Amino acid sequence: MMAASECAPYAKTGGLADVVGALSAALQVLGHQVIVVMPKYRSIAVDEFDIQPFLGLMSVWMGDTEEWCAVHRTETPAGVGIYFVESGKYFNRDGLYHDAQLNDFWDNPRRFAFLSRAALQLCKELGYKADIVHAHDWQTALAAAYLKVWHWDDPILGGAASLLTIHNVGYQGVYDARHYDYIGLQWNNFTSDKFEDHGKINFLKGGIHYADMVNTVSPKYADETRTPEMAHGMAPYLNDKGENYIGILNGADYTQWNPEVDPLIPANYSREDLTGKKTCKLELQKQLSLIEDEHIPLLGVVSRLAHQKGLDILSGAIESILNNMNVQFVLLGSGEKNLERYFAHLPVRYPGRVGSFIGYDNELAHWIEAGADMFLMPSRYEPCGLNQIYSLKYGALPVVRATGGLDDTVEQYDESTGGGTGFKFYEASAHAIYYTVGWAVSTYYDRREHWDGMVKRAMEKNFSWENSAREYEKAYHRAIQNKESDKK
Ligand code: ADP
Ligand code: GLC
Repeated sequence: MMAASECAPYAKTGGLADVVGALSAALQVLGHQVIVVMPKYRSIAVDEFDIQPFLGLMSVWMGDTEEWCAVHRTETPAGVGIYFVESGKYFNRDGLYHDAQLNDFWDNPRRFAFLSRAALQLCKELGYKADIVHAHDWQTALAAAYLKVWHWDDPILGGAASLLTIHNVGYQGVYDARHYDYIGLQWNNFTSDKFEDHGKINFLKGGIHYADMVNTVSPKYADETRTPEMAHGMAPYLNDKGENYIGILNGADYTQWNPEVDPLIPANYSREDLTGKKTCKLELQKQLSLIEDEHIPLLGVVSRLAHQKGLDILSGAIESILNNMNVQFVLLGSGEKNLERYFAHLPVRYPGRVGSFIGYDNELAHWIEAGADMFLMPSRYEPCGLNQIYSLKYGALPVVRATGGLDDTVEQYDESTGGGTGFKFYEASAHAIYYTVGWAVSTYYDRREHWDGMVKRAMEKNFSWENSAREYEKAYHRAIQNKESDKK
């Protein structure tokens, strides 16, 4: 049973949703029986996904408070049962985590504690003896704790072991201790090795403590988060897990992200025949009022505009890039208001050379992957990153900072041999971005055979979910072993 706050295609703000949707399907294909439990947000298209009422009323105890919810259900083409927890009090709102002004909902700790508890309660109602409860990020980390604190001897859930996947250690769910009674995990667990964090509650930390296994989404980020510089305070707790904290690289869902069959892009193409990629580039240029010229290298970005992603650093480099190089730039993103304003205005200053769209648009995201020659991710840190994996498949060579999953998935260009799949830099600075984009652009113009070879090599890379799902299988087995030895 996976408990998650997002799952594609029902509700998504980032890669977490892609992972929950694709991993659950890949596991099902490997022969497991998987269910996903998530909130029924207002934005979910009930009719489009044939979501049906399933349970009229379910009682969920939060501390001494009894809450009520309903449950709806649908099934994915792969056969995964998706259960939606309906609560007028908690989930029937616009926005998953915050309102339109980006203010976090004040009751987020209550909303997601409730989701975590409801997911376990649903297993009981279904008589679903899960072998594994798989929690994702701070939002459902408490499921791992509830499982041990309240369901240790439960006839349905007593045998379940837990795995917590950390998609981003920068978001921990840290909240005022006044919510602790409601969360209902007993005050003896409010200690600095479990939930207490400078007098507040830290959801992720408690989850790390209680989960039988913990993983993050790339081997490199697993190493990085064992160091104080990169772990946002979690290094001691992750190191305490020893071998029970590992990195498993995300896969890509090639049913959604494959230029050979992608129905969202203007023309399909393959590494044997790239004619369609030219069409995609010209169409993208037209769509965004850029000069329509297939020979000018086009640099793309699709990203949340958040500190993590380093686009503020890019804002210090992009104008020099545009002033000194014959290149076009396209950005799709939303998030921090000052960055939205900056990038929204850039096309006015560089007409015909810059296109930007502030907002969320899945179709345009696919167009940019297909139309771009290079794809830029200057992240300060990146647990895995999916867009660079998609870019490889679309033959848009990644230009990335060598951090986390970006470092694990992109191979550095070697000017002497023409090897590699992209361009990496190490410093989080405008300078480094400028020079590395310059390196890519000069390769595009001056070392064309290298470029074409890299595009082919990139498109051959296969980060399918099947491999990652097998790694998760191993992690699940270890979680079960750990729980069994705890029980002895
Ligand atoms: P993160 O989860 O940190 O945002 P990832 O690279 O793992 O980063 O995943 C981001 C996902 O969200 C990708 O599928 C990407 O295409 C999508 N995405 C991000 N921003 C937008 C946007 N503005 N419009 C459409 N899709 C977006
Ligand atoms: C987080 C990370 C991103 C990762 C995604 C899915 O949002 O920021 O790097 O790819 O989760 O695991």
